[in-house]
Amino acid sequence: MLSLSPTQPSQTWPTTRLEKLGLTFPVMVAPMVGLTHCAFRQLLRLYTPAGLNPLLFTEMLSTRRIPYERLDKVDELRTAVGETHFVPQLLGNEETYIAQSIRKLLPLSPWGFDINMGCPAKQTLKHNWGVRLLGDADYAARVVEMTKKHSPLPVSVKMRCGQDKADPEFLDAFTAKLEAAGADWLTVHARTQAQKHKGDANWGMISDLAPRRNIPLVVNGDIQTAADAVSILQTLNVDGVMIGRAATARPWIIWQIAEDLGYRDAPLAFAGMKAPRTPLEEGLAFLQAMIHLIDFLTLYIDAEEKQLRRFRFHVINAHKWLFFGHAYYSRCMKAKSLAEAREMTVASLELGSFTMSSRITLF
Ligand SMILES: Cc1cc2nc3c(=O)[nH]c(=O)nc-3n(C[C@H](O)[C@H](O)[C@H](O)COP(=O)(O)O)c2cc1C
Repeated sequence: MLSLSPTQPSQTWPTTRLEKLGLTFPVMVAPMVGLTHCAFRQLLRLYTPAGLNPLLFTEMLSTRRIPYERLDKVDELRTAVGETHFVPQLLGNEETYIAQSIRKLLPLSPWGFDINMGCPAKQTLKHNWGVRLLGDADYAARVVEMTKKHSPLPVSVKMRCGQDKADPEFLDAFTAKLEAAGADWLTVHARTQAQKHKGDANWGMISDLAPRRNIPLVVNGDIQTAADAVSILQTLNVDGVMIGRAATARPWIIWQIAEDLGYRDAPLAFAGMKAPRTPLEEGLAFLQAMIHLIDFLTLYIDAEEKQLRRFRFHVINAHKWLFFGHAYYSRCMKAKSLAEAREMTVASLELGSFTMSSRITLF
């Protein structure tokens, strides 16, 4: 069980099989290209209650490139000093490259490694990486075996629940092979390859599968609010939840989930405060978070042009949760520098002009 600080008499933490891996907090944030860089991970940690360590994934990293890249020069590989509990996601299927990539990344002290079996991008399919591995369970299992062989740390797989359709039998057989190959846990994006990132996620299907596996199963897809996460954790069989795009809009969602599960400590930077909850509180908190993100981007991303590009991409994804967010979005797209985007965000904060919706239709 989670060790509680003396100020915490009780809490209603669900005990899950992730604890066998040493993970006491069953919430993770998904790998997302262009979004889950070090600056965003630091933003998430700013809003994470003291004492909790959610696993935060990097974006997918090509194992053909990592061996030749400089860890301190490539934004996708950059980590904060002393950063822990991050999981590099590996894309690839060749043992030599996987082994070299793991060796290269180990000095950064990641928590574990994840294998991407869900990316549907054309470039990825051409090499038989990503979601293509769903079409060949034996090869997918080999990729797990080779990764385990070279990793002294836990290895997970992030996959989808099917190709054209969600197929419980296929998922059962496929995940059984990954388990037998040594995967330490599996995260299933409960949408098919055909759905891409749209439409309903079939959380129930993952819940039905979980008792059939002896390793933890984490569910991902369309988890947008703390209420979604808590209801999944308390009513379904799964071992954990992984939040994707909603975390870009409400990076305090981990704090909200922790509060709802009875955890009393606030994040260090917000000592004595409660997580933002109402549409107005969340709207204001969003603008404050964008200012923090800009500051982290200047710390962790080298060139100003890249900082601005990453900030814009964050806003493209996050603004959808804001009522009238389009106005802020267009101003960010027009900002010529990060400093201009920051000034404009501070001015919007003074106007106090936004509110946030709880759930939206994702596409
Ligand atoms: C911009 C973007 C980039 C993504 N990049 C990755 C990636 O690198 N690796 C991966 O496994 N999934 C990737 N995904 C999928 C997410 O990890 C997640 O499975 C998906 O967004 C569903 O979760 P959500 O509905 O909570 O957003 C990406 C999604 C988005 C929107």
